[in-house]
Amino acid sequence: MKLGVNIDHIATLREARKAEMPDVVMAAREAVLGGADGITVHLREDRRHIQDRDVWALKAEGHRLNFEMAATDEMISIAGSVLPAICCLVPEKRLEITTEGGLDVLSQMETIRNTIERLHDKNIPVSIFSDANRDQIQAAKDCGADYVELHTGVYANFTTPRQVEILQAMATFASSIGLGVNAGHGLTIENVLAICKIPEILELNIGHSIVSRAVFIGIRNAVSEMKYLLSQHV
Ligand code: PXP
Repeated sequence: MKLGVNIDHIATLREARKAEMPDVVMAAREAVLGGADGITVHLREDRRHIQDRDVWALKAEGHRLNFEMAATDEMISIAGSVLPAICCLVPEKRLEITTEGGLDVLSQMETIRNTIERLHDKNIPVSIFSDANRDQIQAAKDCGADYVELHTGVYANFTTPRQVEILQAMATFASSIGLGVNAGHGLTIENVLAICKIPEILELNIGHSIVSRAVFIGIRNAVSEMKYLLSQHV
C-alpha cells in the first residue's frame, strides 16, 4: 500500500507568519526519505496554506504529485500547466477548517464530467474524494473518474468495526466497477491498521497526523513509522 504524504500543514505553519519557513520543499524531501511514495497538496481557492509557487517548486523537484483541487476553471488551468501525476477533485467551502466530506458528484454530473474530460485531455488521471456511498461512487465512475479516494473521516471520528465494514464494502464495490481505490482523511498511527487491511486500497493520503508527529520526531521518522504500519497491508 502506497503512502501519499499531505504537506499542506507545513505551509499552514509558514503562512501563520507569512514567513519563509518551514520550507515545504524540504518537507517533501524529508517525507520521501522517510518512505513517502508521493506528495499531496491542496491548492485552495483562498490559498490559506499551499501557494502556487509551492506547487511549481515541488513539481520542479520531480515529486509524484497528487494535486487536490476544486472543480473550477482556475484549478483546471493550473493543473493543466503543472501536470501532476494525479488530480483529486474535492469539495471546497471557504469557511470549513478542512475538507468536510466527499464531493457531491450526483448533484453536478455535468461539471464533474467536463472537469474530468479537460484533465484527461492533458493525460492527467483523476480521482474523486468520495463518501462511502454507493451512488456517489457509481456517479464518479459514470463521469469518467479513474479512482475514488474513500473519505475515512467518519471512521476516524467513530472508529468502530461497522465503519470498517462500510469502507470495505465500498472499496470492493468501487473496485468491481473498475475504479482504483485510495483512501484518506483523519488517519493516524492509532487508527490506520484496520484500513491497511482492506485489500482493494492502493494508496492512503495522510497529512495532519504525520505533520503533528513530525513536531516531536521529525517528518522523516513520522513518515517512516506510518509507512511501517502500511506494510501490514494484506
Ligand atoms: N485526502 C483528502 C482528499 C483531503 O482533503 C485530506 C485533507 O486535506 C486528506 C486526504 C488528508 O487528511 P488528513 O490531513 O486528516 O490526514
